[in-house]
Amino acid sequence: MRLISGSARLAGVTGWPVAHSRSPRIHNTWLARHGIDGAYVPLPIRPDDFPSVIPALAKAGFAGVNVTIPHKEAAFAICVKVDDFARRAGAVNTLIFTPHGIEGSNTDGYGFVANLRHHGVKPAAGPVLILGAGGAARGIGAALQDEGAEITITNRTPERAAALAAALPPAKVLPWEQREDALGDYALLINTTSLGMVHEPPLPMNLDRAAPGLAVADIIFAPLETQLLADAKARGLKPVEGLGMLLHQAVPGFSAWFGVTPEVDEALYRIVAA
Ligand code: ATR
Repeated sequence: MRLISGSARLAGVTGWPVAHSRSPRIHNTWLARHGIDGAYVPLPIRPDDFPSVIPALAKAGFAGVNVTIPHKEAAFAICVKVDDFARRAGAVNTLIFTPHGIEGSNTDGYGFVANLRHHGVKPAAGPVLILGAGGAARGIGAALQDEGAEITITNRTPERAAALAAALPPAKVLPWEQREDALGDYALLINTTSLGMVHEPPLPMNLDRAAPGLAVADIIFAPLETQLLADAKARGLKPVEGLGMLLHQAVPGFSAWFGVTPEVDEALYRIVAA
């Protein structure tokens, strides 16, 4: 058994609610693997309390926290410094408490790209089609552009697609109704919408026109295999599942708080998927 001493390093995940979060499993698995004297705990914080509780955690000796729904924008607002991804996304998912104040980063885009690479998919191998124009699409689009990818955004509400493309120049927009007919022009398809998640309707996306070798990524990880990924697999395309993104986005926070860069591997995947 791993015991926690009086000088243990502490981190956690803040959300409301937070009970569903898989982050404690990820970080505590890494802490155990590396024999680190530390703990990573769930921290349910009401939205009204977030601005006062976070600085209090810093004062209580926490090294930092992850931030999930609904606090990602509020977290941005309390930082003295944010990284480029957080600035472009307007949202923070990782807070690091430093002697100079609270610093924020957004590791979602990093996690997405690292997961692609993990699956042998090159981010800029060809044009990329992103389904959806919410916060997730924004972070992923920015990270892909940094890798040199040419991105096109398609979204049910065209105004949101246009707004996101304007924020990520020279991104293009494709009308939502053309997403299936135009699919052959792309090397990578990414679902960032909520469609296909448990309790949500399936994503309407016929893959008949896919070019051979199309990589199909979903950021949803419940279920582990969405209908979109099952369809991609059945057609011999390259599916990239969403749980890997969650594992990879956790790496920068862990290394900042605990001083070790941890591994994302099959064993971790199985522990977190269970
Ligand atoms: P997040 O910040 O997590 O990306 P979001 O801002 O709520 O979440 O975005 C959800 C995405 O799923 C949006 O692109 C949304 O499309 P709209 O901008 O048209 O709302 C998309 N989405 C949700 N339900 C949808 C549906 N039934 N059909 C098509 N797109 C849908």
